[in-house]
Amino acid sequence: PLRQRLLVVANRLPVSAVRRGEDSWSLEMSAGGLVSALLGVKEFEARWIGWAGVNVPDEVGQKSLTKALAEKRCIPVFLDEEIVHQYYNGYCNNILWPLFHYLGLPQEDRLATTRSFQSQFAAYKKANQMFADVVHQHYEEGDVVWCHDYHLMFLPKCLKEYNNSMKVGWFLHTPFPSSEIHRTLPSRSDLLRSVLAADLVGFHTYDYARHFVSACTRILGLEGTPEGVEDQGRLTRVAAFPIGIDSDRFIRALELPQVQDHIKELKERFAGRKVMLGVDRLDMIKGIPQKILAFEKFLEENSHWRDKVVLLQIAVPTRTDVPEYQKLTSQVHEIVGRINGRFGTLTAVPIHHLMCISAGNFKRMAGLLSNLRGIALDPGHAHGSNVVRLSAPFSSPFLIAHSQTSMYSGKELQFGLHIEKQTLAYKAVAKHNWMIVLWTSTPCVHYMQLLNECARNLVCFSADVICRDVLSFFPDVALVTSLRDGMNLVSYEFVACQDSKKGVLILSEFAGAAQSLGAGAILVNPWNITEVADSIRQALTMLPEEREKRHQHNFEHVTTHTAQEWAETFVSTVETFYNTIPLCN
Ligand code: UDP
Ligand code: G6P
Repeated sequence: PLRQRLLVVANRLPVSAVRRGEDSWSLEMSAGGLVSALLGVKEFEARWIGWAGVNVPDEVGQKSLTKALAEKRCIPVFLDEEIVHQYYNGYCNNILWPLFHYLGLPQEDRLATTRSFQSQFAAYKKANQMFADVVHQHYEEGDVVWCHDYHLMFLPKCLKEYNNSMKVGWFLHTPFPSSEIHRTLPSRSDLLRSVLAADLVGFHTYDYARHFVSACTRILGLEGTPEGVEDQGRLTRVAAFPIGIDSDRFIRALELPQVQDHIKELKERFAGRKVMLGVDRLDMIKGIPQKILAFEKFLEENSHWRDKVVLLQIAVPTRTDVPEYQKLTSQVHEIVGRINGRFGTLTAVPIHHLMCISAGNFKRMAGLLSNLRGIALDPGHAHGSNVVRLSAPFSSPFLIAHSQTSMYSGKELQFGLHIEKQTLAYKAVAKHNWMIVLWTSTPCVHYMQLLNECARNLVCFSADVICRDVLSFFPDVALVTSLRDGMNLVSYEFVACQDSKKGVLILSEFAGAAQSLGAGAILVNPWNITEVADSIRQALTMLPEEREKRHQHNFEHVTTHTAQEWAETFVSTVETFYNTIPLCN
């Protein structure tokens, strides 16, 4: 049978492009829940339309990138720097994202924000129109057009204005806040009206759907029915479609020999210690400082655990041009440094903070460190040359080490600099209290040694994806402390990986996942550091029978509510509720 054709429209394509030459590109996997979930969707004839995360001002570049992306069934929308600044950094990530996660409109420089609001909103609408233009070019009759997330709330309206017979669905990957919060947004009505132009509007949880319907009734004065929202006889179906993951991918990964090897190494490295894991984009909503402070409190109150437990926090830098995110990065480094200084010993530190960063992002990320001072240690590789330019005088000392791994053969890694030499260099500067920034494309596990030796002065960047998967199989506890989170797929991935180990999941009650994994996880209020510290103790000492019972509950859910099933249900609901009644203005 012919597979349903699907146009997936999202701001972020599943691959982000890095320019290597005038017409040569390398494509890297993008991070984030939206991309992870959609990659698990296979049973459609799907094409993606979105932004490749890079500014391409010239025609040669645009043509060659379009070609490279076509192989991945992706179609680019080219956004120039100014639009990205106003639409992506500004309206999407400085206004909508914090508001939808209950962090309010930007606190600092409130007046400036109010002033720039209009121009950012205009850019938002313009960007949405640009996405609509590309959809229009590629649309064929019968296609289902599935719009994703807070970046594209204007898209359903633009699409229906082009062609009222398009089947259009819109899904939000974040929470939709209480209507009392949505009311504060200057463009509150415009956004709701344009989303309502879709045939189907979907959310992760029933609560988010309910908030949306009540925003429409209270703000727009429309009628909310059990089915959705009605406007002069035209119904927009509103419902909850909880997302899932491709659980098999994770379960299968455990069988890979490299993964088994890494796990073994990790076991040896951390023998005698329990390991707790955090994996987050470095985002305010993830509650990373709160999590680390709770861990500190736990160490404070349970001194016998101090040399028996370690927290591995993997953080992926994200939206690094938005000032709030830059502040968060320095804040997290500061807290980690302080706690490692306080509880670390000569041979071990309680927190390993690994920043996972792709080669393409390294240069931008390094800009974030510009409040530091340092030199670059460069073994002379192409990427390294980017690094050297960063060695301008900064205000506090740091060293950037770039270790290029060219080969991984058996267990031997070849470095630009021999590993022992590196360790010596690091140790020398660490003694002088310099911060070491290490970029590596090697699995982080090989750096555990360095991490241990250089204690509190090492920040490690890694581009390795396997390392994240491996780490999910390995720990005893996962700590997900989002202050708010649409769903949180990291918690699902952890559960999928834990069928042999039966690790304990500590989960924020403010993540959408709390509604599906609540019975198996230890639910916590991430703002209550004492409660989180207690839950850490509870998780570390939980008896095997209870761990097994809790795990079974969650594993069952994660393996039966998959990304594929989520997408199928959503798309078939679009077909059912597809409107032939035109929009009323
Ligand atoms: N992720 C990734 N690389 C990393 C860290 C995380 O690809 O270095 C993935 C992670 O495995 C998960 C997704 O990014 O699939 C994060 O989704 P989640 O819903 O937990 O949060 P979001 O980032 O969407 O807010
Ligand atoms: C969240 C959003 C996604 C976004 C992802 C990564 O999951 O819901 O739409 O793609 O974060 O953020 P970025 O800004 O890098 O796309």
